[in-house]
Amino acid sequence: MSRLVVVSNRVAPIQEGEATAGGLAAGVLDALKGKGGLWFGWSGEVTETSEPRAEHTVGPITLYTINLARKDYDQYYRGFANDTLWPALHYQIGLGHFEEAEFQGYRRVNDFFARALKPLLRPDDTIWVHDYQLLCLAESLRALGVTNRIGLFLHTPFPAPGVFMTIPSHAELIRAMCGYDLLGFQTDIDCTAFQDYVLRFAGGEAVGEALSGAIKVNGRLVRTGVYPIGVHVDEVRAQAETPVNRRQATRLRAYLMDRLILSVDRLDYSKGLRQRFVAFERFLAEFPAHHGLVTFMQIAPPSRSDIETYQRIRRELEAEAGRINGRFAEVDWVPLRYLNRGFARNVLMPLYAEAQACLVTPLRDGMNLVAKEYVAAQDPEEPGVLILSEFAGAARELQAALLVNPYDEAGMARAMDRALSMPVEEKRERHQDMMTIMRANSLERWRDRFVADLENG
Ligand code: ADP
Ligand code: F6P
Repeated sequence: MSRLVVVSNRVAPIQEGEATAGGLAAGVLDALKGKGGLWFGWSGEVTETSEPRAEHTVGPITLYTINLARKDYDQYYRGFANDTLWPALHYQIGLGHFEEAEFQGYRRVNDFFARALKPLLRPDDTIWVHDYQLLCLAESLRALGVTNRIGLFLHTPFPAPGVFMTIPSHAELIRAMCGYDLLGFQTDIDCTAFQDYVLRFAGGEAVGEALSGAIKVNGRLVRTGVYPIGVHVDEVRAQAETPVNRRQATRLRAYLMDRLILSVDRLDYSKGLRQRFVAFERFLAEFPAHHGLVTFMQIAPPSRSDIETYQRIRRELEAEAGRINGRFAEVDWVPLRYLNRGFARNVLMPLYAEAQACLVTPLRDGMNLVAKEYVAAQDPEEPGVLILSEFAGAARELQAALLVNPYDEAGMARAMDRALSMPVEEKRERHQDMMTIMRANSLERWRDRFVADLENG
């Protein structure tokens, strides 16, 4: 069996018990724990020069990290990846900006990743690259003579071609993506959008049956497929149920009033937080029977806080939280709690289990693992209700959630009332449906299908 080499920009702390805010880190760490292998990525540190930093091994995982120089960090991570690609991939084109120098920096860092990785590779390694920060890595590795099989899994959405084309370097990016052997997407919508671009605008030709996903482009065969990322459902439930964690969460809920509506996200404009706050305000205004009984808790640790658009959303949310509480709070009731920090999973999972409803309303999201973690954490006899944006990748599977349009504030307000008033039989039925799908599309299946398709392609 060949060794699995995972490459991603962000790597998780591989010691137990530390908070990992971000679906990629949470998913990859869990996937690697079972299979073992090498994990290569950025240390999170910005230093004088870009350089290899450290290697350490915990159990079956060996972690290699590299540091980034200030200029590389600014142009690659802060600039092109997060200020150009991220908004376009999430259909937020008005929020992005493009600088040619930043795109060149992005290419330079992809080349640097390739040069640092190459000496660690063995001829039969399978290389699994993750996410939008490394779209050009296969091309960089190929230029160094690496012939291993290389796959890319995109954790974010892939937008309709017309949206992707707003990125001035779109054609170069697509050409580089076609240097991978296998491209994996979260949903059929993302996969189809990518195929559509390649077939109509990049000279690609479909190979074999219409839905096989194989495309001949630039003289190579590139395969595409849909691999929805999952969670370890039993592990999540076990963490949610651990008595000591559970006691802590129950005490917290008593303090927070009877009914808890919970949201957990990185503080990111794609997560629809402002619209969600306004929807909660509307819920309070239109359904006064819940006053004094319900708390909406938003947990949102700051993310990418040196980028202007992220600073702006943070300021807006602070103002909105203050305004909504100012309008509705009583001496003995604060309706909205807004917490800007991460929590360890043994705190988060029991809190999910205590919440009667979870609001997951991104404007666009690749998958959204919080939605799946929430469902997995529930007591099947008395589950809470998931209110889920139809624009989260998770909505393709979790059709039994209360699906909402995150731009429809009145609709979200009605869904909150419905969730808090839902009969237990209906909650159980919906929960069971979602669990069946989540068990089928587990994290192991995500990993095993992708790796098998990459190895056998
Ligand atoms: P994204 O990848 O865009 O951050 P996801 O919902 O897919 O979004 O993944 C978020 C992951 O990060 C989940 O596993 C979640 O448990 C974790 N997470 C999010 N916010 C927090 C937080 N405040 N504390 C700890 N973990 C968090
Ligand atoms: O796909 C979501 C994602 O961008 C991951 O790539 C990343 O690990 C996570 O969100 C957190 O973002 P960042 O690494 O920029 O802090």
